[in-house]
Amino acid sequence: MMENTKCIEKVEKKVCDHFSISVPNKPEYVNVVRLTTSAIASRMGFNIEQIEDIKVAIAEACTNAIKHGLCNHNQNFDINFFIDDEKIIIDVIDKGTGFASNEIEKPDLTSPKEGGLGIFIIQSLMDKVEIVSEIGKGTRLQMIKYLGDDI
Ligand SMILES: Nc1ncnc2c1ncn2[C@@H]1O[C@H](COP(=O)(O)OP(=O)(O)OP(=O)(O)O)[C@@H](O)[C@H]1O
Ligand SMILES: [Mg+2]
Repeated sequence: MMENTKCIEKVEKKVCDHFSISVPNKPEYVNVVRLTTSAIASRMGFNIEQIEDIKVAIAEACTNAIKHGLCNHNQNFDINFFIDDEKIIIDVIDKGTGFASNEIEKPDLTSPKEGGLGIFIIQSLMDKVEIVSEIGKGTRLQMIKYLGDDI
């Protein structure tokens, strides 16, 4: 599952630009990732609201990689950005603890408790989210945001 990620939705004839960064698993770098992501999204033509959504989503994904995935590992995690003229695909990949991603529960918003909201927030802000995780091997969270009207 940790093989090189492809541009899953690559449309024929369209060129997909690929931009990647390797990030130390320290919370102080999350803001660097937010700013990098913001710069890419802005250059692509996303509006301010969409850019804010993408920034929140990437910050939640990075925080999970750092806090849950790599908590006891002294390792970097990777972010891949696949860019074309209709969407951005962002992969956040850690080779950390992994988890049972098929057992993610929807948070009970009527009786909010602390924590357990990050993935739900990512799903609400992005157009598509896919999580592939394997215990002991790591996690890949892939999220897609389309330019233009929200779908
Ligand atoms: N990259 C990851 N590696 C390992 N486990 C993860 C990863 N991402 C998420 N998880 C697991 O999924 C759970 C839900 O993640 P989510 O971001 O929704 O909530 P949280 O991180 O516990 O709390 P919050 O994001 O609201 O502070 C986490 O508690 C953790 O067990
Ligand atoms: Mg979280």
